[in-house]
Amino acid sequence: MARITDHLRKDHVRLKALFAQYEYDPASKFAEIKELLELHTEVEEKGVYPASKSFAKDEVEHAKKEHDKADKLLANLEKDPTNIEAFHELRDAVLHHIEEEELEYFPLVEEHLDEEKQYELDEEADRMADEK
Ligand SMILES: [Fe+2]
Ligand SMILES: [Fe+2]
Repeated sequence: MARITDHLRKDHVRLKALFAQYEYDPASKFAEIKELLELHTEVEEKGVYPASKSFAKDEVEHAKKEHDKADKLLANLEKDPTNIEAFHELRDAVLHHIEEEELEYFPLVEEHLDEEKQYELDEEADRMADEK
């Protein structure tokens, strides 16, 4: 049994690893990053973000804006995955977002969200991944 924040931290670790490998194989790494980032974003926006609105409203609103920015940077990189400048823009924005979630947002979730709900959201996240 894991909490949703553990689940999301694992995705963050995988994303960082993909970023680190990117320049060796942009086309296939781009595809992997896109798939993981889209699923991760969906899991957060359909699950933990709405569930934490009552105690982390500002953090959630801020996070959604950063997701929108990452979506745009991802679409821009998709036009040419070998564009390293565009890759760096996406990578830096996502790393910044990950750091804020882990330092500021996840601790709020772990402290204030009903524990049972934290486990439930993890199970839901697994189901969403299986449906892909
Ligand atoms: Fe996020
Ligand atoms: Fe995240």
